[in-house]
Amino acid sequence: MPPVRTASILVVEDDAAMRELLTEELSDAGYTVQAAGSAAGGLEVARSGRFDLVVTDLRMPEMDGFDLIRGVMALTDPPHVVMITAFGSIETAIRAVKLGAYDYITKPFEIEELMLVADKALGERSLRNKVARLQREVEDKFGLGSIIAKSQSMRDVVSLVQRIAASTASVLITGESGTGKELIARAIHYNSTRAAGPFVGVNLAAVPEGLIESELFGHKKGAFTDARADKPGLFVEADAGTIFLDEIGELALPLQAKLLRVLQEHEVRPLGATKNTRVDVRVVAATNKNLEAMLADGSFREDLYYRLNVIHLDLPPLRSRPEDVVPLAEHILANLGAKQTPPRRMRLSPEAQHLLLAYHWPGNVRELMNVLERGVALCQGELIADDDLPSHVRERRPADFLGAAVARRMTLAELEREFIERVLEDEAGNKTRAAQRLGLDRKTLYRKLDEYAKQDGKDSPSRPSQPEE
Ligand SMILES: Nc1ncnc2c1ncn2[C@@H]1O[C@H](COP(=O)(O)OP(=O)(O)OP(=O)(O)O)[C@@H](O)[C@H]1O
Ligand SMILES: [Mg+2]
Repeated sequence: MPPVRTASILVVEDDAAMRELLTEELSDAGYTVQAAGSAAGGLEVARSGRFDLVVTDLRMPEMDGFDLIRGVMALTDPPHVVMITAFGSIETAIRAVKLGAYDYITKPFEIEELMLVADKALGERSLRNKVARLQREVEDKFGLGSIIAKSQSMRDVVSLVQRIAASTASVLITGESGTGKELIARAIHYNSTRAAGPFVGVNLAAVPEGLIESELFGHKKGAFTDARADKPGLFVEADAGTIFLDEIGELALPLQAKLLRVLQEHEVRPLGATKNTRVDVRVVAATNKNLEAMLADGSFREDLYYRLNVIHLDLPPLRSRPEDVVPLAEHILANLGAKQTPPRRMRLSPEAQHLLLAYHWPGNVRELMNVLERGVALCQGELIADDDLPSHVRERRPADFLGAAVARRMTLAELEREFIERVLEDEAGNKTRAAQRLGLDRKTLYRKLDEYAKQDGKDSPSRPSQPEE
């Protein structure tokens, strides 16, 4: 079966017979082919369409193949160029390649030879495009744009990430579980001058204590029973990039001493090695433990703490930044919805939004993700209603009632109305007792209830003609 070829090729050749031959052969091979009889004409066609490859003759009257290469290379996302030359001097080929041509073939040539070069050029091009696309995806995923930060406290975090981009100073990220420590660690790396280098993460709580040293610093073959081959270790792997030491609070004291030495000397010595290896690594560490308390009870070394804590980022719990809850929920729902087949444009009902705002989120953003994932699975259409939220979220145990009111952008009058109505509800509709509790006289309470009824566009159904005693 011939390979599927979807690329488009432009053939530029002044010799009509040759032009037709090339066009026919490349079309037969499955490519989409256009042709031009002069360099100037070819450049015009190249400018007006999107080509993956230009196959051009060198010697043509007026404008030659070199000029064409120059013109093509000036295009945005220029196609690959293969030059055909009858004058197979190596200088000509070098000049073409220097101008940006991918390769050249010399006349006379077999058509198979051209096919091979074209396939190679197009293969390389599609690989390059793939790499560029993956790079863009990584940037989208870990760039600052992917971090939802509506609250002032998170905006401060993001602006600090930006400000430390050029530095190589160690960063310590603290925060409750699920607050986004790993997300921020990656953002630090991908927005730093080391972004092209590796980001190597290790969860120190997940590696057995006996293996941490060789995992981090490597070992030589035969250094211990199971060491069957040399292993470079994560610090060497992270050279010129960033190492993310997650759950640093779990590191045992002897290993803390070894880590400190590496950070001070910028050198690692693999187990069983006789020489040190220099490493250029930025360290970002994270923990949800209170390291200061650990300093006090001697379970974390003070000197290591100060090494790691050159820049400190403390991620606020979600309950202290209610402004972020709905934007985060919308961001998460957009991602979840896009993954459904067919894609769904998920929304939150206003009641569901209020419940999310009132809940105290002990598991922070990760818990919000889980709640919404469940909601998407349960809800029928595209609207997540309060029924689609788990009962503990529906229970309304407001952690930060005023914070939630701020996030809802309530006015004082709206807040007053909601409070009055809630107290009245709590007093089973008894206005005398509600007024007492609110510190209002009954007349004022009636007047307010009247106003609310008017706002709702109806006469107060609850107001008796004679005030009750
Ligand atoms: N501000 C934010 N914007 C967008 N997504 C976020 C934000 N904060 C957290 N997330 C998402 O929430 C999830 C949990 O974040 P992450 O894993 O970084 O938290 P963590 O603090 O490392 O948690 P743990 O302590 O449990 O390891 C991730 O999927 C992350 O992408
Ligand atoms: Mg984490």
